[in-house]
Amino acid sequence: RFCPCATGRTQQYCTSAKNISIRDALTSLDTGSNIRIRGWVRSVRSQKNHLFLHVSDGSSLQPLQVIANSDLNIRGLTFGCAVDITGSLEKSPSQKQKVELQAQRVEVVGECDPVDFPFKIKERHSLEYIRQFPHLRCRTNSFGSLLRIRSEAAAAIHSYFRDNGFVQIHTPIITSNDCEGAGELFQVEPSGNEHSSDKENPHFFSVPAYLTVSGQLHLEVMAGAFPAVYTFGPTFRAENSQSRRHLAEFYMAEAEISFIESLEDLMKVMEDLFKTSTEHLLSQCAEDMGLFHKFISPGQREKVDLMLKSSFNVISYTEAIDILSRNSEQFTFKTEWGCDLQTEHEKFLVKHCGNVPVFVTDYPYDLKPFYARDNQDQPRHTAAAVDLLVPGVGELCGGSLREERLELLKTRLARAGLEDTYAWYLQLRQFGSVPHGGFGMGFERYLQCVLGVKNIKDTIPFARSSRSCLL
Ligand code: 4AD
Repeated sequence: RFCPCATGRTQQYCTSAKNISIRDALTSLDTGSNIRIRGWVRSVRSQKNHLFLHVSDGSSLQPLQVIANSDLNIRGLTFGCAVDITGSLEKSPSQKQKVELQAQRVEVVGECDPVDFPFKIKERHSLEYIRQFPHLRCRTNSFGSLLRIRSEAAAAIHSYFRDNGFVQIHTPIITSNDCEGAGELFQVEPSGNEHSSDKENPHFFSVPAYLTVSGQLHLEVMAGAFPAVYTFGPTFRAENSQSRRHLAEFYMAEAEISFIESLEDLMKVMEDLFKTSTEHLLSQCAEDMGLFHKFISPGQREKVDLMLKSSFNVISYTEAIDILSRNSEQFTFKTEWGCDLQTEHEKFLVKHCGNVPVFVTDYPYDLKPFYARDNQDQPRHTAAAVDLLVPGVGELCGGSLREERLELLKTRLARAGLEDTYAWYLQLRQFGSVPHGGFGMGFERYLQCVLGVKNIKDTIPFARSSRSCLL
């Protein structure tokens, strides 16, 4: 079959057919042009002597309608198969799309048995259902949208930090510290003694090494030389939790700012990061966000709009405990001063604040890790730490001012028996120490919050959690 472009080449090899993404084809004004698309068939129906296909290639939620003459005799054309198509892009007579592709050649590149394929034509499968097929779920509309949104959200977070003068630091994934001190570490086991020259000591690193739970301490190193730094990468926690908001491997955006003296300044950055990234998503991923807001979590768009137009609330931990104690009969866990806030408490506080995000500040000193700054002047012993709680999720960000005073830090580390382990960290306070602070925002929880997704496993390409590591 020769291409109509008069180059004398067969259509398959004709270079005059421009390779184009479906997203670009859908917005192209170049009707009459000869184009080539490659993708997967989302629907197929025949009418009179024509075949009507919807083809997707991952570049947009909306598929491209392709019309092929039945006499093209396309073998293996079914829902789910992979196709390579050339044809002429034409204005569509239908209201549903601006353009359609009049196919001159349709080649099935990879067949798909629709009986065994777990997704069915025209059916809306739940996120829970498609989660069972981590190797195939990217082919569904909903997960395709999620992945495009996730990619754009990551870009928005990087842009936010870059636009505001933060330097990106690639903090290590393998580390010898347990930043949070919560003991939820995945130890990096030596694979044997083949790496070691010392047969007596088969350990690769010669010290215990773990997958990082947070890049914070490495960012603090850099905050000794830069005004503002950030990192955005995978983080690991061996939390034995089956909850809908915990993963064993998740992404965290972390910031550290030098010369910052109040939690207010830190909260401003958290709120600004949340709002700027979310506005970016609403404008740049309108169609994909619409799929979630209309079909998966109806009503979520209004909730997001409310978060964007409201100033986030600020309450102290002590105030939070007062509010919770007045409603203690509603909770399973106790609500006394000194106790950690549980998910049920966090959700209650957000509701209590009108479903607008709320910062909870100044936690009991003993609840927070060694690095949190001591609020010495308060009647109860608290640390300058803050958590941001958001609707539907609870805790989204955790942050604090860091203890920059050498003697106070030394005392705290000594009490925990960690003075030697963190000798290098103490040195940061010995040589040009400055007030500084930072926070971490869980990326998957952020996506849960803006999309209204109930289970965190539906926000990450390949979820890892306790007793679940498919693929
Ligand atoms: O509150 P966290 O533990 O704070 C830190 O790790 C600080 N060192 C960050 C910093 O100051 N640089 O964790 C920060 C956020 C949480 O608020 C939550 O959103 C997310 O990380 N997170 C998880 N997300 C998914 N699964 C888990 N198991 C998570 N643990 C924490």
